[in-house]
Amino acid sequence: MRNNFKGLFSVLTAIVIAASLTACQNDTEQSPGNASSQGTGTSSAPASNTSSSSSSSSESTETNSTSSENTGAAPDNSTESGEKILIAYFSRCGNTNYPDDVDASASASIVVDNGRFGTTEYVAKMIQDEVGGDIHLIQTVNPYTADFDELRTVNHNEMSNNYLPDLKDTDLDISGYDTVFVGYPVWATDVPQAVISFLNKYDFSGKTVIPFCTHDGYGAGSSYNTIATASKAQNTENGLAIEAKDVPGAKSTVASWLNSIGISESSGNSESAETALKITIDDVVLYGVLYDTALAREIKEYFPLTISMVGFGGREYYGGVDFYPQNLTDGQRNFENGDITYCEAHRNMAIFYAQTDNPNLSVDVIPIGKVTSDLSVFETLGGHAEITFSLA
Ligand SMILES: Cc1cc2nc3c(=O)[nH]c(=O)nc-3n(C[C@H](O)[C@H](O)[C@H](O)COP(=O)(O)O)c2cc1C
Repeated sequence: MRNNFKGLFSVLTAIVIAASLTACQNDTEQSPGNASSQGTGTSSAPASNTSSSSSSSSESTETNSTSSENTGAAPDNSTESGEKILIAYFSRCGNTNYPDDVDASASASIVVDNGRFGTTEYVAKMIQDEVGGDIHLIQTVNPYTADFDELRTVNHNEMSNNYLPDLKDTDLDISGYDTVFVGYPVWATDVPQAVISFLNKYDFSGKTVIPFCTHDGYGAGSSYNTIATASKAQNTENGLAIEAKDVPGAKSTVASWLNSIGISESSGNSESAETALKITIDDVVLYGVLYDTALAREIKEYFPLTISMVGFGGREYYGGVDFYPQNLTDGQRNFENGDITYCEAHRNMAIFYAQTDNPNLSVDVIPIGKVTSDLSVFETLGGHAEITFSLA
């Protein structure tokens, strides 16, 4: 069957390929996201207040990666129930030394979206955007050939001989993770042998292992069984297989799949992986936390972020921002004191500081963090304040 793939792969892969090959190994920091959405006005205030809130400033600092690649640090992302998540993946990108003059259409697929990603890498980052967690690239000591035909032969030989390529040493400590996603391109209707090397190298007993893969039209093959057997994991979940040409638009597919296996974005809204936050109002400094959500991480990239905020209803200060977050989720129409929220409809942020007889909001807001300091300063601000959000 493998011999029939070459022609098909060349055509299908060409659909996805769109960029130089060398970039995929390095330029991977910006997370994939969905289409941006816009809004005007304020989060929960009536329209009459909107114009006064439009002034805001946001200083865009460096684009931080939301992942920790090949991490060996203590896992710092977990689900609401405290589950720690690792997203490990293998891909041609990161495992191939492409010559400078290689013809892109003959080699690995790359997704272009504000950066260049290997196909499987792109899905890995989509998963991370949904549930958080750390990302780990599985890398062999010896890189694979850039030549597609040769690679097929190499893979065939590795499979026939049950050869397990050595992996690069990393300081990955698998023991800290409860749930491990394992991603890979389907090779010859199975996993690349490097994935088995990875599964053999670490102890997955007691963990949940969840496969995901990309392919060129023939599906996951026997790869899920291979992973269940090789990992000896306590649990394995149903995997996700995405055809390479569908990967750029697969965000909702990924989200639905995560939901179906009980690892939804809401479970990733972990307050146990919060980022310490500083809120400066004139000479007053408050502290708080940013949640470990894709939206909060995205907004954090604009820190230090100064917003011209106005008071409304004795309960909140709000102000517009001039960026369009992509990682939006369903919001809510109520608040707790201290909530820091983003409002898609009115494209602004708010800090809620007091419950009043008007606790119900007119539009949805998405909590991204919480002020943990005493909130009484908001009672004395006089209706307007320049408020700066930064990392503590
Ligand atoms: C050696 C090799 C074998 C492959 N075998 C299959 C296969 O059996 N079925 C399939 O649908 N795609 C197959 N593909 C295509 C890849 O699975 C697909 O292009 C994948 O999305 C590449 O992901 P990557 O860019 O992360 O490496 C194969 C590709 C290679 C290089």
